[in-house]
Amino acid sequence: MQVGIDQIGLFTPDKYVDMVDLANARKQDPNKFLVGIGQREMSVADITQDAVSMGINATLKFIDKIDKNKVGLLIFGTESSIDQSKSASLFVKTALKLKPEVRTFEVKEACFGLTAALMMARDFVRVHPEQTAIVIGSDIARYGVNTAGEVTQGAGSVAMLIKADPSILALNNGHSAYSEDINDFWRPNYSRTALVDGKYSTQVYLDFFKKTYTDYKKQKGLKTSDFDAITYHLPFTKMGMKANNIAIEGQDQATMIKLERSFAAAKQLSSRVGNIYTASLYMSLLSLLENGELPAGSLIGLFSYGSGAMAEFYSGKLVEGYEKQIDPTADQAMLDRRKKLTVKQYEDVFNTALLDPEDGLELTSDDEVGTWYFAGTKDHIRQYRVKE
Ligand code: COA
Repeated sequence: MQVGIDQIGLFTPDKYVDMVDLANARKQDPNKFLVGIGQREMSVADITQDAVSMGINATLKFIDKIDKNKVGLLIFGTESSIDQSKSASLFVKTALKLKPEVRTFEVKEACFGLTAALMMARDFVRVHPEQTAIVIGSDIARYGVNTAGEVTQGAGSVAMLIKADPSILALNNGHSAYSEDINDFWRPNYSRTALVDGKYSTQVYLDFFKKTYTDYKKQKGLKTSDFDAITYHLPFTKMGMKANNIAIEGQDQATMIKLERSFAAAKQLSSRVGNIYTASLYMSLLSLLENGELPAGSLIGLFSYGSGAMAEFYSGKLVEGYEKQIDPTADQAMLDRRKKLTVKQYEDVFNTALLDPEDGLELTSDDEVGTWYFAGTKDHIRQYRVKE
C-alpha cells in the first residue's frame, strides 16, 4: 500500500515588501538581496494573522474536497506558537469542524516540525489505512527590523492531507535522519524575534545535507542521476541553491541541467513569500509541482532541516494525474492580491504585530472576504473569525 500527500494548500497573508525597496532603505545593493540572498519579495503578517489563522486558511484550500469524517489525526508544526500549553491544532479543528474523535496536537523542532508531523501521519495511515491525517506547518519568520536576517523573513502556511493511495506524491519507504545539539538559530521564550548565527547555520545546513543525502543514496542504492528533482528547506533561496550545487557537483551535463531546472521551478514561490520556517520545504515542493512540468513517476528528493539541529532526507514519486490536484493560477492570484507596503509601513505593521493587543480589544482584518483572522483576546482567550 502506498501512503503519501493527497492534497496540499498554501496560504500567505495579504501584504508584502519588495526586496529592492528594502535594500534601498537599508543602503544595500539590491543585487545582494535579489541574487546574493535570492529573494524578490517577502510576505508580511499584520497583527490579525498568526500561526493558527494562517493554518486554517491553508487547510481551507482543500477541505471541501476531502471526507472530513475520515480525518483521524491532525498535527500542527510551528515555531510561532501562540500558547505554551494549548495546541494550535485545537483552534484549527474547531474552525474546520472536524469530528471530536480526531487525535490532535502540536509539534516543535524549528523548521523540521512539519516533516516530523508528516512522518507521524505517514506511519498513522499505514496502520489505519481507512483513516487520513491533516498536517499543517505555519509560521511567521521574524528576525527584526534592520537586522542581518531581516531580508530572510516571511509568513505563511502549508497544509497537507496524508492518505493511502495518494493523488500527488507517494512517499517511499526509508529515510536518513541526522541530529546534533547545536546553537545556530533559536528563539527564547522571552523574545518575539529569533536569534541566529546565520553563517554557522548555513554551514550546518550544508553539512547535514551532505550527511543525509549521501547516507540516503547508499541505503537505497540510488545515484544523483536517478532523481528528477531535489527540493530543499528554503529559509532563503540561495541556501537551497548551495545545497543543490553540492548535489550536482561532478555529475554529467544532463543531470546537472535537470536538477538546476527543477531547482529553479522549486524556488519560485519562496522567492516571493520568503521564509515560512516549518512549511518552507513544502512550499518549495508545491512550487516544483506548479512550475516544474514533471511527468508522473518522477522521483523527488526532499531535504528537511530544522535548526538546533535536525535534518532528514527522504523521497517520493509523483502520482499519475497530480496536476489536477494543484491550482497554480489560484496561488499566483493569492500572491498578486497582496498589497505592497512601503518600508515604513512594513516597519509599523511588523512592530505592531510584536505586541499583544489589549485584552477585550476586537481586531478587524482588511484581507479578503472568507479569510480567517485573529480577532484579539477575550478574557485572555484567543478569538478567530472569518472575514465577512
Ligand atoms: N550582488 C550579488 N551578491 C552579493 C552582493 C551583490 N551586490 N553583495 C553580497 N552578495 C552575496 C554575498 O557574496 C553572499 O553570498 P554567499 O553566501 O554565496 O557568500 C550573500 O550575498 C550574502 O551576503 P553576506 O554578506 O554573507 O550577508 P549577511 O552578512 O547580510 O548575512 C545571512 C546573510 C543569510 C547570513 C543573514 O541574512 C541571516 O542570518 N539570515 C538568517 C539565516 C537563517 O535563516 N538561518 C536559519 C536557517 S535554517
